[in-house]
Amino acid sequence: MTFKKKVIVALDSNNFKQTESLIEKIKEYIFGVKIGYEFFFNFGLDGYKKIQNKKINIFLDLKLHDIPNTIKHGIVAIADLNPYFTTVHISGGDEMLKMAFLNKKKTKILGVTALTSLNNYQVNKYYLRKNVEKLVNDYVIYALENKLDGIVCSPHEIKKVKKLSGNNLLIVTPGIRPSSYKKTDDQKRIMSPAEAISYGADYLVIGRPITMSLDPIKEIININSEIEKN
Ligand code: C5P
Repeated sequence: MTFKKKVIVALDSNNFKQTESLIEKIKEYIFGVKIGYEFFFNFGLDGYKKIQNKKINIFLDLKLHDIPNTIKHGIVAIADLNPYFTTVHISGGDEMLKMAFLNKKKTKILGVTALTSLNNYQVNKYYLRKNVEKLVNDYVIYALENKLDGIVCSPHEIKKVKKLSGNNLLIVTPGIRPSSYKKTDDQKRIMSPAEAISYGADYLVIGRPITMSLDPIKEIININSEIEKN
């Protein structure tokens, strides 16, 4: 059976061998892998290139947030690495977002709204917005104004983002928890894979439910078939 490949697996790991063997097992079932801080600061560019050699799409999730000039040069360097996606924090402001957009090549720039680990209290405290919904609402407008390719948001905001952006922003969402995953962790605003896709997510970022699974192939096949039923 062929599946729509919607899953991006977050490689949050400090064990290179384990990560490589996981990729070999699951790569035919997924859209790509996400390299974030943990992987990147442990294995650096060398590790990044070894993963890229496996001919798999890479989401280089370094969540850039700095002054426009620094972002400009950072994005130029990232674009040379040719990841499929990379991320900037929308809270970096218009000039910063424009610099990111103007200096990318093929790489798609995703804007991070609010981390899916933040609840309303934290959003109010740090972003001075009444709630997550209000913040995401404003940030989607800023992402559109500054021509980002897509947005990273929690699955609970997908409907709203879709309504505001139509098909003008790709929606990539972490905070995905399949029903088989029984643990509770730092993710607060979560949803099942099938529901997130039915609301309009383009790609799902899933880490621990796959990377910590005793049978990651079975896990990803289950997720893919759940999505397919939509
Ligand atoms: O293990 P888990 O499925 O929670 O992994 C989610 C991944 O998505 C992590 O790598 C995390 O850094 C990332 N992420 C997130 N919330 C955001 C943006 C990225 O959880 N808003």
